[in-house]
Amino acid sequence: MTNNKELKQWVDEVGRLCEADHIVWCDGSDKQYAEMIERLVKSGSAKKLNPKKRPNSILVLSDPADVARVEDQTFICSKTKEEAGPTNNWADPAEMKTKLSDLFKGSMKGRTLFVIPFSMGPIGSPIAHIGVQLSDSPYVVVNMMIMTRVGAAVLDVLGEEGEFVRCLHSVGYPLVTKDGSQRPDIPWPCDAENKFITHFPESKEIWSYGSGYGGNALLGKKCFALRIASTMARDEGWLAEHMLILKITNPEKEVRYIAAAFPSACGKTNLAMMNPTIPGWKIECVGDDIAWMKFGPDQRLYAINPEAGFFGVAPGTSMETNPNAMNSFKENAIFTNCALTDDGDVWWEEKDSTPPDHLIDWKGQDWTPDCGRKAAHPNARFTAPAKQCPVIAQEWEDPKGVPISAILFGGRRASTVPLIYEAFNWQHGTFLGATMSSEKTAAAAGKVGELRRDPMAMLPFCGYDMGDYWKHWLKMGEIGKENMPKIFYVNWFRKTDDGKWLWPGFGENSRVLKWVFERCAGQTGAEETSIGFLPTKDSLDLSGLDISDQDLDVLLSVNPAEWKDEIPKIQEHFEKFGSRLPKELAEELDRLTDRLSSVAKT
Ligand code: GTP
Ligand code: SPV
Ligand code: MN
Repeated sequence: MTNNKELKQWVDEVGRLCEADHIVWCDGSDKQYAEMIERLVKSGSAKKLNPKKRPNSILVLSDPADVARVEDQTFICSKTKEEAGPTNNWADPAEMKTKLSDLFKGSMKGRTLFVIPFSMGPIGSPIAHIGVQLSDSPYVVVNMMIMTRVGAAVLDVLGEEGEFVRCLHSVGYPLVTKDGSQRPDIPWPCDAENKFITHFPESKEIWSYGSGYGGNALLGKKCFALRIASTMARDEGWLAEHMLILKITNPEKEVRYIAAAFPSACGKTNLAMMNPTIPGWKIECVGDDIAWMKFGPDQRLYAINPEAGFFGVAPGTSMETNPNAMNSFKENAIFTNCALTDDGDVWWEEKDSTPPDHLIDWKGQDWTPDCGRKAAHPNARFTAPAKQCPVIAQEWEDPKGVPISAILFGGRRASTVPLIYEAFNWQHGTFLGATMSSEKTAAAAGKVGELRRDPMAMLPFCGYDMGDYWKHWLKMGEIGKENMPKIFYVNWFRKTDDGKWLWPGFGENSRVLKWVFERCAGQTGAEETSIGFLPTKDSLDLSGLDISDQDLDVLLSVNPAEWKDEIPKIQEHFEKFGSRLPKELAEELDRLTDRLSSVAKT
């Protein structure tokens, strides 16, 4: 328990509003984790996996109406609509609270309210921040226990007066309904028709109702560490970003750290813990989804991973593509919306080259390879402790963070965008981030495959006006000057006309990271083009790689006609921001236009 008056008072208030039967404080102990797992298994929410195959692990299947983040039900409730900007849904904070109070009223009847004190970042680190989530979902409790640092030590740091981000969550399925009738619990309770993921940046509060899935419900992750933290970062002069952090060591044992922002389900986890194919190079993982970056005493940007676990995309993960992820969830893991094998293990598409003859799919139905359905949901996920990753960097919990040499932006683009190019400078790099585009994935509800602009991979996660966010990036560049990381843009997802990958990806991406490393060290050449610096063919290490010259030409060239097609699309994207578009970015667009037209003339 705690002697923090504000926390005690808030827990009382919420307990009364939601009419929870019991209140349980989470101490973060193994014993409590085991009790929670038992509770999930007993209630029919989770199935224990075969301990011989997957010790201390469970499979949970969600309601098919609750399988991903819901961006159209996500709101930034800043004082004014302008502060939320044109890319966010906005609602008046007082009106939203009134509406949600009605929904939260009695929402925990018959249930237990769990109090989850958590730290984003190593407990007590000057970069870390504390939150408390109140939730009626034991599934959320066990996930939060892996994804964040939960428990008594957090309350000690909080003390009597400490500040914390209030994270209120209910799945919205009371066991006594509004008309007073009782109903039994169900395996995945939610209120699919009434989901609200709301943020109040001024008071640093999150109210999430109706969903139990991922970023909608594990409030330390996207809601706190990105949406609320991005507004804190703006006010305090740092960066809260949707970025992996990796450590790369060359054969001479020189170390650099690289951060990379790719949209959801576009390869962060895979890049962060890859096994490099080039001999003598080593890649280790600091974080796979979120980076908080602050200036150190030397004016360089230092990054910490505020999380303690991975909530990774399962489909496509295999011993070939990502063995280090596979080994991270060997035990003590939670699987959501994966398929169940007959011997009590989990399976998903592309886990092995040949699927098993029979499975129970993510909807609980019998599945055979010829049934025409996917066995796992495309956004099926694993939750695993970061410390179980075989290539976790020894400094991943260093409270002062790691100095970042390069930032990569990227996304899924079947055409136009080369494998890698380097920005001319920080301002141009900010332009590359601001104009990022990617084909939509299953990580969010909506149509998969549609091209959308996803600036800095933060479109769904920036807690304020995106134009002001770009200004903040430019301002950070003015402060850090020549100490700022170099910025690059990558695209692993270029396709041939008949839909095949042009680049093998995964561990082979180490070739691109090597080029980035050497550019940072001033050791390798590049060719200046209208969009940025591209590797010359001999500066990219392709030894031992079976790739045709023709494919390589496509991967490493700039097609002026295709790029000219981008200009009006970028213009249209920028117009949404009106007067809040920084003039520097409009200038960069003019410069790109000029460079492309002079290429066409020559
Ligand atoms: P979030 O957790 O949603 O933020 O996703 P993420 O950015 O961490 O993406 P992740 O690494 O989980 O990859 C998503 C999907 O892309 C998986 O199915 C991967 O197998 C696939 N993928 C990752 N890297 C590559 C690559 O280099 N090439 C190809 N073709 N596919 C990749
Ligand atoms: C993402 O969608 O970027 C994720 C998964 O990392 S979730 O936690 O659901 O946001
Ligand atoms: Mn993510």
